[in-house]
Amino acid sequence: MKRIGILTSGGDAPGMNAAIRAVTKTAIHHGIEVFGIRYGFAGLVAGDFVPLTEADVDHTINHGGTFLYSARFPEFEQKEVQEKGAAQLRKHGIETVIVIGGDGSYHGALALTRLGINSVGLPGTIDNDIPYTDYTIGYDSACRTGMDAIDKIRDTASSHHRVFIVNVMGRECGDIAMRVGLASGADAIAIPERPYNIKEIAETLKRGFANGKDNGIVVVAEGVMNANDFKNELLKYGDFDARANILGHMQRGGAPTVVDRVNATKMGNYAVKLLLNGKGGLAVGIENGKLSTHDILDLFDGKHQSDYALLNINDEMTK
Ligand code: F6P
Repeated sequence: MKRIGILTSGGDAPGMNAAIRAVTKTAIHHGIEVFGIRYGFAGLVAGDFVPLTEADVDHTINHGGTFLYSARFPEFEQKEVQEKGAAQLRKHGIETVIVIGGDGSYHGALALTRLGINSVGLPGTIDNDIPYTDYTIGYDSACRTGMDAIDKIRDTASSHHRVFIVNVMGRECGDIAMRVGLASGADAIAIPERPYNIKEIAETLKRGFANGKDNGIVVVAEGVMNANDFKNELLKYGDFDARANILGHMQRGGAPTVVDRVNATKMGNYAVKLLLNGKGGLAVGIENGKLSTHDILDLFDGKHQSDYALLNINDEMTK
């Protein structure tokens, strides 16, 4: 193997640059050239390739976003589009690819492997919704940002004795909501994977105010419902001075945390070694604190295992 390509796909996530850096520096250490593929699979098909040197990845580990840019490109599901991408790689002498991204990215990595370009997927999404990994690159930073935002929201909530309903991202996965909710001391957390009872949440908030609390925080995963709608439902069960706040894309930005930088670096380094050993069609993860690999095919049947203990702990402390 002489050349590796690397791309980021889907929604950007803090730590993606750290993974690109690790791949680049590890590959160069082993005498392999690295090509950055810009704009994800769209750039792959367009042949938007840039050689990456150690200088190019210097001072990137601490930056959010992805300096290779990203794109959602559903066209890559089509066989003829995949073949165009593989042809671009062959034209540039690139024999292997590392894909950093969410769900859709793995389909692309598998398609390339089947076309003879060994490819490895790294979990890069704030949502933490990928099967066979306890952790995705960007999840920790997004939780940190969510927690910081709620700390600030609580200052104003307290000053006015208000209830805030805060929407966090995560698509259909409640991991961000559970972790941010627990870390920010929320009165209630609602996630899509578990039943919740708005009347009960209203009772919890009322009890809090009756016991001398001066604010209420409810963290609602975006997969449950919009914070405004949740607020309107809540007001049916209590006369709260309530506000809704949708954190939105701010959760995708900012400097990656230590956890994201270190895990992204470990996974990027490991992915290069897998390719050096002639492996492809694999998804890298971190399970029980250790690097792991699974066939990408297994991911399509698998389901991410969330740590619902976080929700149970919060319920036990607040209900
Ligand atoms: O998958 C990451 C994510 O930020 C989700 O949490 C969110 O639902 C979605 O992407 C937003 O997508 P877009 O950036 O296309 O609006």
